[in-house]
Amino acid sequence: MEKVIEAKNLKKVYGKKSAVFTALKGVDLDIYEGESVAIVGKSGSGKSTLMHLLALLDTPTSGTIKIDGEESTKLSKKELNKLRNSRFGFVFQQFFMNPKDTVLNNVVLPLKIAGISRKKRKQLAMDALKIVDLESKAKNKATDLSGGQKQRVCIARAIVNNPKIIFADEPTGNLDSATGDKITDLLFDLNKKQGVTLIVVTHDEDLAKLCQRIVRISDGKIIADNSVRKDTAKKASERREKEAARVKKANEKEAK
Ligand SMILES: Nc1ncnc2c1ncn2[C@@H]1O[C@H](COP(=O)(O)OP(=O)(O)OP(=O)(O)O)[C@@H](O)[C@H]1O
Ligand SMILES: [Mg+2]
Repeated sequence: MEKVIEAKNLKKVYGKKSAVFTALKGVDLDIYEGESVAIVGKSGSGKSTLMHLLALLDTPTSGTIKIDGEESTKLSKKELNKLRNSRFGFVFQQFFMNPKDTVLNNVVLPLKIAGISRKKRKQLAMDALKIVDLESKAKNKATDLSGGQKQRVCIARAIVNNPKIIFADEPTGNLDSATGDKITDLLFDLNKKQGVTLIVVTHDEDLAKLCQRIVRISDGKIIADNSVRKDTAKKASERREKEAARVKKANEKEAK
């Protein structure tokens, strides 16, 4: 039941002078390992702003965020990038892929940044593409895919590093319901089978209900947050340990 994220009194002010807007007005939020958390609220309530701060993609105007007990403001830019790249996966619609590059190269990117060997990263990327059922599109240009397929490539890229936390902002937005369901299944599979912590921003109440916890945000403040089911978090933690042991064993075997 480790706290993976501990956010305290987060405030975010955008703009200057007459255009100043306070998007977050003091948010406290703890996320536990293995949880699935939905962040819901009206358009403009501050969901994406909060998500960007939690994922360390943007900095708060005031307040603190600890990741695995470590204060994020104390990290250098390089350390921040490393932390994001090794522990986080992102499924954001505005995170466009490189359209001119192949699907495979788009998925490989986080591994390249992590300095993994060419051969190994190709193998890992193909494994991730297999999970989202897009192996056959590996050599296609990203731009040639359908919307749902692009979203699945984003998921492959998000999971290729075996992240501890996946942040998803409207992962099923703009998709037909069958494709949306497939994306949803993928994300919850990762949460349930591998103990990946899942944080999802959504307008979709059905998707929110699949999460163990729903955080409601209105006008830059949390107005409701149902409690953490600690037993589930504990089980997820055990699953993650098991998975880490399996990966370690596989790596050792390969090194021999
Ligand atoms: N870069 C920015 N500069 C100025 N205001 C901003 C900026 N980004 C967001 N805002 C404002 O902050 C508020 C919260 O925005 P945010 O994107 O977090 O909303 P949201 O809850 O994700 O909405 P949606 O459901 O429409 O995606 C909005 O009123 C928005 O106009
Ligand atoms: Mg948003």
